Amino acid sequence: MCGIIGYIGKKNSLPIIIEGLKRLEYRGYDSAGVCVINGDKIIRQYKRAGKVNDMEKNINVDVFNGNIGIGHTRWATHGEPTDINAHPHFDMDNKIVIVHNGIIENYKVIKDKLAEDGYVFRTDTDTEILADLINYHYRRTKDFSLAVRLALIDVEGTYGIACLCADEPDKIIVARNGSPLLIGVGNEETYIASDAAAVINHTKNVVYLEDGEMAVITEKGFHLKTIEDKEIFRNVEVLDFFMGEIEKGGYEHFMLKEICEQADSIQNTYRGRINFETGIVKLGGLESVFDKMLNAKRFIITACGTAWHAALVGEYLIEQFCRIPVEVEYASEFRYRTPIIHKDDVVILISQSGETADTLAALREAKKHGATTIGIVNVIGSTIAREVEAGTYIHAGPEIGVASTKAFTSQVMSLSLITLMLAYEKSIMKQSTLVNVAKSLKLLPEKINKIVERKNEYKEIALKFKDARNFLYLGRGVNFPIALEGALKLKEISYIHAEGYPAAEMKHGPIALIDENMPVVFIAPKDKAYDKIISNIEEVRARKGKIITIANEDDTNINNYSDYVLRVPNETSLFAPILNVIPLQFLSYYIAVARNCDVDQPRNLAKSVTVE
Ligand code: AGP
Repeated sequence: MCGIIGYIGKKNSLPIIIEGLKRLEYRGYDSAGVCVINGDKIIRQYKRAGKVNDMEKNINVDVFNGNIGIGHTRWATHGEPTDINAHPHFDMDNKIVIVHNGIIENYKVIKDKLAEDGYVFRTDTDTEILADLINYHYRRTKDFSLAVRLALIDVEGTYGIACLCADEPDKIIVARNGSPLLIGVGNEETYIASDAAAVINHTKNVVYLEDGEMAVITEKGFHLKTIEDKEIFRNVEVLDFFMGEIEKGGYEHFMLKEICEQADSIQNTYRGRINFETGIVKLGGLESVFDKMLNAKRFIITACGTAWHAALVGEYLIEQFCRIPVEVEYASEFRYRTPIIHKDDVVILISQSGETADTLAALREAKKHGATTIGIVNVIGSTIAREVEAGTYIHAGPEIGVASTKAFTSQVMSLSLITLMLAYEKSIMKQSTLVNVAKSLKLLPEKINKIVERKNEYKEIALKFKDARNFLYLGRGVNFPIALEGALKLKEISYIHAEGYPAAEMKHGPIALIDENMPVVFIAPKDKAYDKIISNIEEVRARKGKIITIANEDDTNINNYSDYVLRVPNETSLFAPILNVIPLQFLSYYIAVARNCDVDQPRNLAKSVTVE
């Protein structure tokens, strides 16, 4: 999912665009490019495969000097990550140039039509086709804004675009359908960006474009309308995070910073939402749908990737403590499976970015069937947050590392708060229990910091496995999703093949993989599944597998069964998953660093997947 940035104002746009692209690079880093215009009818373009830094090193800043500019960092969907396929893309007449985040689904049909009209194409991208389609209408209308609008009426698919026209060098035209885009309102200057991280150090005043909207931006300001040419007025919103939150703060990687700041992010998630005297939980954002939640026949929790693992933890907690049936669905499957959804179902959508295309589509599917939709989201003002009926922000703060860490533990914390709220209201959990749970919660940040202080212990063990080719993660009950999450973290950033499995399932196949070269991570806290886990460990030891256990501090017995132990403080079953996952985050981090992997921007990945 690409990152788009643009600037129009009195300053030189190039440094602003390059700095913005660096902040958006977690969205995709296959190639980068810029275009600037300087009041004359010449659009200067520079683009190349690779990172923004590579582009910055090679660009001639004297030539690329203009008060209007657009930029792009790419996650390739159509056409390999090459210099030629990098954005921005010109039309055939080198008059109109465009940057695009999304997928033009009917680009082949349009391409064939344009070819009949004599258009020739230079790249393999769907985006170039859109530039030529705008050209097609521009040749006939000699009106840039109208040409863009007519072209967008013809396309099917998703887009966030920004484009320039050499004949009308005083404006940027932007539009959105499915991919996020915002306008940053400055003092006699305007910014556009795929997300707020790229403009926060210039302005906190933003206007979010909705699907089917476009804006014509000049030095005087911007003019918002629909693709159907209907005028729109929209309020400016104020961003509520600050620059420091998107800096590394002295850490080597954003991922390490985000792992180490989980004691704070967890507190931000429950602050003001639980009364530590009474234990009573109140989530203001869910008040309007609370009765529907209480009377729901079923909860469906849907998400992608790490958020889907949080959903699985939610299933265990809500079924165990609230006795409400829960189904967990991969959003990408849910939306196409013609699911059976009833009006009295509650559908919970979990998403860090709030922009994941499959989760957004699952939301729209649920709404179509009249279900109550609830969002558990991190990015304020994101599309999912704006489209759900009600929701709760996890307040984990900006998460820049592509591999999700603090958002996961805050998603699990939000699900725990929902569980406590419902269990009490349904008189399944007594207030005395709530008060005890609240006491444990108060101690949780300290326990997280204890784990963070142990990071060098985890590092030592991680270095022993930096050359492993495979890993197996095993857990029982609520720790099965934690095993899945541990495996995903390792896959994502170290490129080692890893699988998570319910420990008991191992005997039904994966045990065939076990030999002296297979590291097996067991999540083995002293809970009701402990003895069963020990037998599973024995089964792996019998096949000479290398045993790494996540175990409680006071568990000396586990030493007899483990080659290596990653210690965590004791915790109640409700909050234990939050503690148990953190050593797994460190393990994957230190293995990836030891393998010289690009931890914050792992190959082939992107922070929010805004295309299908
Ligand atoms: C997790 O580390 C990955 N970045 C990815 O699996 C992610 O969880 C998934 O794409 C969902 O993203 P979301 O929470 O922003 O919707």
